[in-house]
Amino acid sequence: MLRRLLQTMAFETKILKVDPKSILFSETAHIDGSLPTITDPETEQNLLEAARTIRDTDDTVGFPTETVYGLGGSSLNDKSVLNIYKAKNRPSDNPLISHISSIDQLNRKIYGQESCSDILQNIPQIYRSLTEKLWPGPLTILLPVPQQSTLSKLTTADQPTFAVRIPSNPIARALIALSDTPIAAPSANQSTRPSPTLASHVFHDLKGRIPLILDGGACSVGVESTVVDGLVSPPLLLRPGGFTWEQIRSMGGPQWVDCKVENKKTVSEGEKVRTPGMKYRHYSPQAKVILFAPQEGSAPLEKRLENVKSVITDHARDVRGFAVLSSLTFPDNLLDDPHGIYRCLGSSNTEIQANLFAYLRQVDEMPNIDIIFVEGIDEEGEGLAVMNRLRKAASNNVVSF
Ligand code: TXA
Ligand code: MG
Repeated sequence: MLRRLLQTMAFETKILKVDPKSILFSETAHIDGSLPTITDPETEQNLLEAARTIRDTDDTVGFPTETVYGLGGSSLNDKSVLNIYKAKNRPSDNPLISHISSIDQLNRKIYGQESCSDILQNIPQIYRSLTEKLWPGPLTILLPVPQQSTLSKLTTADQPTFAVRIPSNPIARALIALSDTPIAAPSANQSTRPSPTLASHVFHDLKGRIPLILDGGACSVGVESTVVDGLVSPPLLLRPGGFTWEQIRSMGGPQWVDCKVENKKTVSEGEKVRTPGMKYRHYSPQAKVILFAPQEGSAPLEKRLENVKSVITDHARDVRGFAVLSSLTFPDNLLDDPHGIYRCLGSSNTEIQANLFAYLRQVDEMPNIDIIFVEGIDEEGEGLAVMNRLRKAASNNVVSF
């Protein structure tokens, strides 16, 4: 028991600062793979150390992307991928996204093609419009696993497809480019916890379990990438994320107009699913979460807020303390109750999305907070991804208002 504990606590986790503004890529670097210029020597040195860890060892590194912090290891190396699953306590049947810095790297490192007559030959037509417009960025596509694949079977959890994206965060891109290694990276949280959007969140969850975290500040998007499957007809949106369903439908070309949202919230153990991650508990703080979901065309706002107040008052009676995360309609002075603390997630969907995980973590870490009440938003635009995360955090404690 003690030996096992010591094995998982084997690292003194270092946090190294990196400055995203000091990293410059050319316009075409995400296609041809040209390396960035890095003007700050400390950033360059820290990135090179992290890149060596990814390329030359089986260890993992926490690093920022534009969506959330990732826990990265080589997609090509079984031991690195095992170490990712181990550090996070992640079930190993949930496949990982491979992060690449360029299409050139995809061709060389995953398809083993040193030179290609057409650099886009491994990107099926169905994805071309999306990848041209949305890469680098929070879009993940599924590709068939090539016959002679270099990818670790643990990265793909033995699925016939693999997930891949080119992140836009300069630190993530530079780390992948400098290591010249496709990086498998789930969110860098303990499995079941809210995803991390600051280096301190990664440290909180994984200290002692990984050697290194690159600290590049807050993630701008705040929810994970949008996962799409264009290999089926009509194409599917498997996970709502940083790009909205509306954006995918309007930018993907004619076939994406019919893109459907995969809607299963949970499935039973052992059932085959398109996105294996969906069957697990997710995004959960320690405190119980109760989500208020807005309902269209119901009573006047004042009446609806009365209802909200009475639900909170009922639940709050038996707890030590509670938090209310409001968004677009709950007023600051919703309740006059000293056991409650109040935070506003933001006044636009993008702000709410960016703050969501950080605020869930922030109030969860305060002493004696037993319940977190959250004001949900309409499931349009960013609302779809926000409500997807909140419904899971609330594990179906949802009250309409
Ligand atoms: O923004 C993101 O995507 C972040 C950052 C770090 O890049 N990464 C992330 O990874 O969210 P993760 O492992 O937490 O989520 C990956 C999702 C899971 O729901 C997984 O089941 C799904 O992608 N996925 C991966 N490979 C798949 C495949 N071959 N078929 C279907 N779903 C797949
Ligand atoms: Mg995750």
